[in-house]
Amino acid sequence: MKIEGIGFGKAILFNEHFVVYGVPAIVSAIGKYTVAKATPYEKPELNLEDNRQATPRYKEDKKDQQLDSIRRIIEKMEIDFSNGGVNVELAGNLYCASGIGASAASCVAMARTLSNYYGLDLTDDQINDIAFEGEKGYHGTPSGIDNTASTYGGLIWFEKKQENIMEKISLANPIEIVIGNTGKVADTTKAVAGVRERKEANPDKYQTIFNRAENIAYLAKQAFHDEDYHEIGKLMTENHKLLQQIEVSSRELDFLVRLSKEYGAYGAKLTGGGLGGNIIALTPGRNLQEEVANAIEKEGFQTVKTQIGVRRDGDLE
Ligand code: MEV
Repeated sequence: MKIEGIGFGKAILFNEHFVVYGVPAIVSAIGKYTVAKATPYEKPELNLEDNRQATPRYKEDKKDQQLDSIRRIIEKMEIDFSNGGVNVELAGNLYCASGIGASAASCVAMARTLSNYYGLDLTDDQINDIAFEGEKGYHGTPSGIDNTASTYGGLIWFEKKQENIMEKISLANPIEIVIGNTGKVADTTKAVAGVRERKEANPDKYQTIFNRAENIAYLAKQAFHDEDYHEIGKLMTENHKLLQQIEVSSRELDFLVRLSKEYGAYGAKLTGGGLGGNIIALTPGRNLQEEVANAIEKEGFQTVKTQIGVRRDGDLE
């Protein structure tokens, strides 16, 4: 008996970091996902077999956080191992790297597989709550945006509030993107803490940047409604500039953004916590996607070619 559950990888298109303070953000599930497979285990515990492909050092660097996350998930789900333990294998086609939701995808996949294995029949909302708890193991005070994309799929408008606001943005067809990996594993907790410190030290400067970030989110939402990919790309590049201003970019991220633009991407920006990790370039159409990905790979960086707007009910590659 092998019982499975999946969690999508994600790419934040607008306003990572700003989202932590309630500024609206736009996130999308991507066509790559983590699968968790549960089988019986002889000892009364959860045994983890992590077979995901990963950036060098990713798994080692995140080991303690992963154990804390799993402990939180088990506690939240009130799983009782007295009738036997469970072996959970993590696999799937989502390559683990900072910024593409690897931690959230693993939390969602794990919650789903445990729900199926123990016959709990949990709803998506419950899975999302559990994954949010699991995410705390990885980055202390997550906004909840990553687990939301990973659970529900699709393209999502997200606002962190007392009761988070989540609206689906409909997209006629998924759009091609390239994700470029700096190869550097980054610590989201540190990145978030750094923004907090600088924001507190420079309230006026940060307020101006935050106001523009909010403005960009609304403009981007409209551009998605209009299917104006050029406008979306332009706003993404501007969003990257704001992320530079709050000091979460890096030399490699800036280089990959510039390179993608040079090869015709409609827009590009860092995605996720920054300070390393990944960029996302908007490259509608397979040809442009190929061209931008090749340019990045020629410089010695890895890429993932996938799509945004991938829905739960299909489009999996
Ligand atoms: C990380 O993928 C996104 C951040 O905004 C942190 C969060 O929202 O929890 C940097």
